[in-house]
Amino acid sequence: MDKKAMILVVDDEHGVRQSFNMVLKDEYNVLLAENGKQAIDIFTKNAVDLILLDILIPDINGIDLLEKLKEIDPNVEIIMVTAVKEIQTAVKAIKLGAYEYVIKPFVVDDVLTLIHRALEKRSLLREVTYLRGELKRHQPFEKMVGEHESLQAVFDLIRTISKSDGAVLIQGESGTGKELVARAIHNSVSRKHKPFVVINCAAIPPTLMESELFGYNKGAFTGAAGTTMGKLEIANKGTVFLDDIDSLDVNMQAKLLRAIQEKEFERLGSTKVIRSDIRFVAASNRSIRELISRGKFREDLYYRLNVFPIILPPLRERKSDIPLLLNHFLELNSKKSGKPAKRFSKKAVNALMKYSWPGNVRELENMVERLTTITRKTVINIQDVSAFNIDFGNITRGMKLKDAVSAFEKNYISEVLDNVGGNRRKAAQTLGIHRNTLFVKMNEPADITGEI
Ligand SMILES: Nc1ncnc2c1ncn2[C@@H]1O[C@H](COP(=O)(O)OP(=O)(O)OP(=O)(O)O)[C@@H](O)[C@H]1O
Ligand SMILES: [Mg+2]
Repeated sequence: MDKKAMILVVDDEHGVRQSFNMVLKDEYNVLLAENGKQAIDIFTKNAVDLILLDILIPDINGIDLLEKLKEIDPNVEIIMVTAVKEIQTAVKAIKLGAYEYVIKPFVVDDVLTLIHRALEKRSLLREVTYLRGELKRHQPFEKMVGEHESLQAVFDLIRTISKSDGAVLIQGESGTGKELVARAIHNSVSRKHKPFVVINCAAIPPTLMESELFGYNKGAFTGAAGTTMGKLEIANKGTVFLDDIDSLDVNMQAKLLRAIQEKEFERLGSTKVIRSDIRFVAASNRSIRELISRGKFREDLYYRLNVFPIILPPLRERKSDIPLLLNHFLELNSKKSGKPAKRFSKKAVNALMKYSWPGNVRELENMVERLTTITRKTVINIQDVSAFNIDFGNITRGMKLKDAVSAFEKNYISEVLDNVGGNRRKAAQTLGIHRNTLFVKMNEPADITGEI
């Protein structure tokens, strides 16, 4: 794929167009227009990044043309090219959103520097928009743990994939690490310093999906107040993660397919072509094959995305990784809290290895987090574990009544504590016990203030 920026030169003089072409053609894709009509036509049909615009052109005033071009795409960078006597006009152009002006005759290096800066500004704008969105997101921990051969095979595949730009389809049950794999792919390629843009197909209503993906121009629909870049435009040179792709509406599947195939699309309410160089990674926790057979998923889109298939195994099929994962999350929690890492007793680990983990790694991670918060001791034992969730059936089964009761009690106390945001006083009130009794039950030192 051609990653050169595209520059449109608008000038009525053949000689000027040709000299710009000579200077720019090695580093950029250059398009030439000799009048306003041609300029608008070429600009609409091509993904132009920057325009060198002569102020004096035959069929339209340069300022009016500037306004028209900016209307089509407010993000395009325009450098005005002008003769000395038109400086007033050039200044007006800057006020209307031109990036800069150069005065004829100009020094080639100066123009090149200006072009570099203008293009850099454009890519920074995209990155800032991306980072604003990313700051709001919770950044999952990037490290992936697993020694089981099924996961090792996934790691190998990620290494292979990083050498190409083909789309990836990750399938696996909820909580198996699909997003983590998507981020690992992004981080292992040259795109890693570029945006990783997540599109959650299950969370975005179908009516908003199109503007979310492609962006929109002012006035495209009621409420479209300003021109907004879509996720595909923001993700230029980076990765787009299409999470829960199985939830994507069949109509949108067709539109997405077109954007993937042609690497081009338009904002809503605009005919201007936008080009974006994207690595697509999609994820699904339902079988796409099965959805195809029910007519819910387009087969052609499936083939487009499934260039590299990755199937993540459920945790119950790689139980030997459980001790490793437990330690991983214990360490992670200790780093977060700044307290020394806790550990699980041998019996507790054995019990956890018998459990089927329907919520996979996410369920295990949540369990470790809750247990390390609730338990004050350094060693988390089997009672603490069974207290966490009495549905652990096969773990509580065979326990002495005393232990089962204590397990239930701990579970109930932790639920009440959760409900009151960890406030010991309120929890004691709800439970109808003295605060000190609560501390005893939680294996914490009593509170000497004696306050209820
Ligand atoms: N192999 C692993 N090593 C370490 N952490 C993992 C691993 N797999 C998953 N996790 C962690 O488990 C949690 C769930 O993973 P992730 O969000 O990637 O799952 P998912 O497959 O996208 O789930 P869903 O389908 O519900 O969106 C995350 O916090 C992630 O960091
Ligand atoms: Mg996910």
